[in-house]
Amino acid sequence: MTERPNVLVLKTSDGKPSEGSNPSVSADRDPVHAGERGFFYGGDMTDILHTLTVDGEDYSFTWPAGMTLLDALLAADLPAHYSCMEGHCGTSQCTLTGGRSHMLRNDVLSRYEIEQENQVLACQAIRDEEGPYHCSFDD
Ligand code: FES
Repeated sequence: MTERPNVLVLKTSDGKPSEGSNPSVSADRDPVHAGERGFFYGGDMTDILHTLTVDGEDYSFTWPAGMTLLDALLAADLPAHYSCMEGHCGTSQCTLTGGRSHMLRNDVLSRYEIEQENQVLACQAIRDEEGPYHCSFDD
């Protein structure tokens, strides 16, 4: 198997979720029961690579179903923009294309920004399809 930089491998060779060394993927995030922020590591995990553009650089990452976009980016140690992580401040606003998604909370974006400009709050965005998705903090 070839090494893929900037990609968090979320399965071990026996198919169980890998906790990795990133502090955002820790043992206190139960793989079966969703935490306060809706974490799920069990069930639907794919090897589909999604892409991120930030500060002119392109990266790839995996995005498990039920996980917020921001949590997926942070789990892969990617340089996402964020602050409150609760849908209030707008710092994690980005352009998301490649499939439908929904937000758990949104105190910032207008309906027009969401539907016509493909804007989401990465800290609240959950993918609804397989993708591959493209997220950009540069648009
Ligand atoms: S980090 Fe504040 S809205 Fe997402």
